[in-house]
Amino acid sequence: MAASQVAVIRGPVRKLYGRVRVPGDKSISHRLAMLAAVADGESEIEGFLEAADCLSTLACLNRLGVRTRLEGGRLRVSGRGRRGLEEPADVLDAGNSGTTMRLLAGILAGQPFFSVLTGDDSLRRRPMDRIVRPLTAMGAQIMGRVGDRFAPLAVRGGDLRAICYRSPVASAQVKSAVLLAGLYADGPTTVVEPAPSRDHTERLLRGLGVHVETRVDAEGGFAAQVTPPTRIPPIRARVPGDFSSAAFWVAAAVVHPDAEVTVEGVGLNPTRTGFLEVLDLMGADVRAEVMGEAAGEPVGTVVARSSKLRAAEVRGSLIPRLIDELPLVALVACFAEGTTVIGDAAELRVKESDRLAGVADGLTRLGVAVREEPDGLVITGPAGLAGAELDARGDHRLAMSWAVAALVASGETRVVGAETVAVSYPGFWETLAELAGPVARLRPA
Ligand code: S3P
Repeated sequence: MAASQVAVIRGPVRKLYGRVRVPGDKSISHRLAMLAAVADGESEIEGFLEAADCLSTLACLNRLGVRTRLEGGRLRVSGRGRRGLEEPADVLDAGNSGTTMRLLAGILAGQPFFSVLTGDDSLRRRPMDRIVRPLTAMGAQIMGRVGDRFAPLAVRGGDLRAICYRSPVASAQVKSAVLLAGLYADGPTTVVEPAPSRDHTERLLRGLGVHVETRVDAEGGFAAQVTPPTRIPPIRARVPGDFSSAAFWVAAAVVHPDAEVTVEGVGLNPTRTGFLEVLDLMGADVRAEVMGEAAGEPVGTVVARSSKLRAAEVRGSLIPRLIDELPLVALVACFAEGTTVIGDAAELRVKESDRLAGVADGLTRLGVAVREEPDGLVITGPAGLAGAELDARGDHRLAMSWAVAALVASGETRVVGAETVAVSYPGFWETLAELAGPVARLRPA
């Protein structure tokens, strides 16, 4: 990670207008790189996200003997085939990236060699038992710190048994880890979730000719089942723009009194766009239109304008479909008439930071009436935001949420940890300047 930075932003900005594109989807970039690594032959992926998280995935794949070349957003991967990865001579460092660690653990569970996965301070505090449990049930040996709960994880994989795993959490990372391990199992492997999480893995596998079935089971669980293929063909794909990156500009537009922002080329997979549904409930002036398809995903344009907003209740099966946008839901709620309740969101406590605590603290500093609950937040609006010093807590999504808040806060806001945006959104500060003018100055901390 780059040296620590503070973004100093003087708000409120006068207006917010423009037409922008966002970088490639992070979730899809990770998955494409990993699948290309175990495919036969040369894959070519356009629009690969060149951010720290996805670069961590590439570095791990390189240690597993996979050659990759990344030039101007085009990633070429020399696939080693399903059984061709090599035992790494050193530890695999997933950096800040939960997706890298959890999905790669699924692939490593199927490899007949020893490997060690580690990550930065934040990632080594995040729960890994959620993947260790199903992967060991399939026959992999995995050990980790504190009773196999935390990384570093030592993995010795091999031939795997097919299982049906009922995950207690709706998590695409858990589901994907098990489905990827399922590529190496002795029969069809099933994962059942309590609510649907993002389905990029299922879509990509299907696009590669792998048999994946999804259904609602007798107990109302959401099941995905993969049948192991004999081979994975090379990939040609274009990565859609990341909806989670677009969401910052959509949020900025709806809370600003003089704004219209268009985001083009953005992924509109319905398992990712719960934020648009909440904005609709809140009465926001936002339109999304699907214009085409890329990597098996709907892609289109989102137009967001200044809006008169009302409070909403956000809980239940919506939560996994807007999990990374919840800090923005909280921010938008500050501008809505009434009390917004976010519930069933305890998962936010185990993201790159404890996002419930981080959001509650930041909004309080901005002068908002917010109450932190064990699994959510209660926010009463509308509230005028007063510029403050806000800490990203090492979390890229908090840094960007605070930068958006600063655009509508009065006076100076200082975002400590501004460099963390590089984890998922290189070019964030440049796009902010395109829309709002040169209002943010980056300084060494
Ligand atoms: C992701 C799944 C989500 C999300 C994360 C990316 C993925 O995590 O928060 O940013 O790429 O599968 P969980 O599976 O832990 O909910």
